[in-house]
Amino acid sequence: HKKIKKICCIGAGYVGGPTCSVIAMKNPNVQVTIVDLNAQRIESWNSDELPIYEPGLDEVVKESRGRNLFFSTGVDQAIIEADLIFVSVNTPTKYTGIGAGYAADLGYVEAATRQIAWLATSDKIVVEKSTVPCRTAQSMRVILEANAKPGVRFDILSNPEFLAEGTAISDLIKPDRVLIGSLDTEEGRAAAASLADIYASWVPRGQIITMNVWSSELSKLAANAFLAQRISSINALSAICEATGADIDEVSYACGLDSRIGPKFLKASVGFGGSCFQKDILNLVYLSESLHLPEVAQYWRQVVDMNEYQKRRFTNRIISSLFNTLTGKKIAIFGFAFKKDTGDTRESPAITLVKYFRAEKALVSIYDPKVEESQIWMDLCEPGIVDDLPALQKQVSIAASAYQAAEKADAVVICTEWEEFKDTRLDYEQIYDGMKKPAFIFDGRLVLNEKRLKKIGFKVETIGRPGESLRNPEFE
Ligand code: NAD
Ligand code: UDX
Repeated sequence: HKKIKKICCIGAGYVGGPTCSVIAMKNPNVQVTIVDLNAQRIESWNSDELPIYEPGLDEVVKESRGRNLFFSTGVDQAIIEADLIFVSVNTPTKYTGIGAGYAADLGYVEAATRQIAWLATSDKIVVEKSTVPCRTAQSMRVILEANAKPGVRFDILSNPEFLAEGTAISDLIKPDRVLIGSLDTEEGRAAAASLADIYASWVPRGQIITMNVWSSELSKLAANAFLAQRISSINALSAICEATGADIDEVSYACGLDSRIGPKFLKASVGFGGSCFQKDILNLVYLSESLHLPEVAQYWRQVVDMNEYQKRRFTNRIISSLFNTLTGKKIAIFGFAFKKDTGDTRESPAITLVKYFRAEKALVSIYDPKVEESQIWMDLCEPGIVDDLPALQKQVSIAASAYQAAEKADAVVICTEWEEFKDTRLDYEQIYDGMKKPAFIFDGRLVLNEKRLKKIGFKVETIGRPGESLRNPEFE
């Protein structure tokens, strides 16, 4: 099989950037060019202020950038020169047309595929890195073959990415597995072997698994669906805990010790966020419906419905604790990112909560250690509404610290599990002194020691633990 010398990655986003930077670091003899249409993003990748925050990413980029790693807007040139091309563009949920709200918008994948077909003058291995519906490789193949120059051969591989944000670099350096799907032909297997060699520079061969391309595509959707389903399951149980006096952390611990269940991804929360879970499940729902499998579709849809319910349920608990009205009350939001250690806010539960609080006429002050201010405004403005920003800014402000956000607030709501929000890190006595009384804390991430905070004087309400009305002092 062919030895890869030049790689092009189309899409310098959360996946393309870190993944191909690690590939470059581990394969100093392979030239890796990451391209994007977004010139500003490329400029940041070439500066000291990378466009995404990811622990360890700076060091990885610094090691290879300018040596065998390049970031460029020269999409065409990079495609022409490459032996292997990763397609790592965005595949958001469609918001209009057939499948709106469910199906993946494959417009960016198709545009990139057409560009490859149009430009290629030598054989290329084209790798689906984006998460796509099962059988997308088939569409890509038809487009490539219909537009290929005579004598140019394309092999298509599926190589889904399993990294999670916030831990992208360690996930890439020590992956549980690398998955490569190919057509079950001699050429398909040879292409898979060429890509496997790239990963084998640092991943043990036994963890690089190859399979048929459709299994590989579906495995990515399946893995995300399983993970999200665990969270919805534990969140569904958290509602039972709150109503009965059971403690969700104890239930997770007890269940997680069963080696068949395992302890990971059983942390109850205000709801899952991130660019993948909801999008990929809805994609699976749409796929199931297209295949005339409505029961299957309904089964997976419930995972997303439960997540929406969790956000609503937590908000309702906040409203009822605050004497059934939020009008004019100041709510401090601790954390706006969808999880800790990232500045990403896509589908962050905080966005939904702030919208609910606005509808209740609360005043909201937001603090997050990594999210850019401009991003928060963008997330909270309703698209298409003129003058939304001035109205929004009458109700919402952005604070420079947790202390500032909580100043004169009626309640603190923890939306992201940043380490710095723990009661061992923040001075909650100072926060308490600055707040209106009674001072409430709503812990949507189970990061606080309830007892310690109650001692300070806070009224504490935690997801998955019984509310004030159910608490029995004898047992506390
Ligand atoms: P992203 O939006 O951060 O990045 C995609 C980039 O592709 C953008 O910068 C965009 O400008 C660029 N682009 C689009 N069309 C282009 C074209 N024709 N030529 C050049 N550049 C183009 O998206 P992401 O989070 O990196 O996700 C990419 C894919 O990976 C998605 O399919 C996603 O589902 C999947 N994925 C994401 C994650 C994650 O944690 N974010 C994890 C696994 C898989
Ligand atoms: C996810 C998958 O984990 C990753 O494999 C895939 O490639 C992309 O999608 P990501 O969305 O970056 O990664 O982060 P993840 O750690 O999975 O968290 C997703 C959401 O679930 C976050 O909002 C997180 O806070 C929440 N979560 C996670 C919980 O509420 N409880 C848990 O136990 C774990």
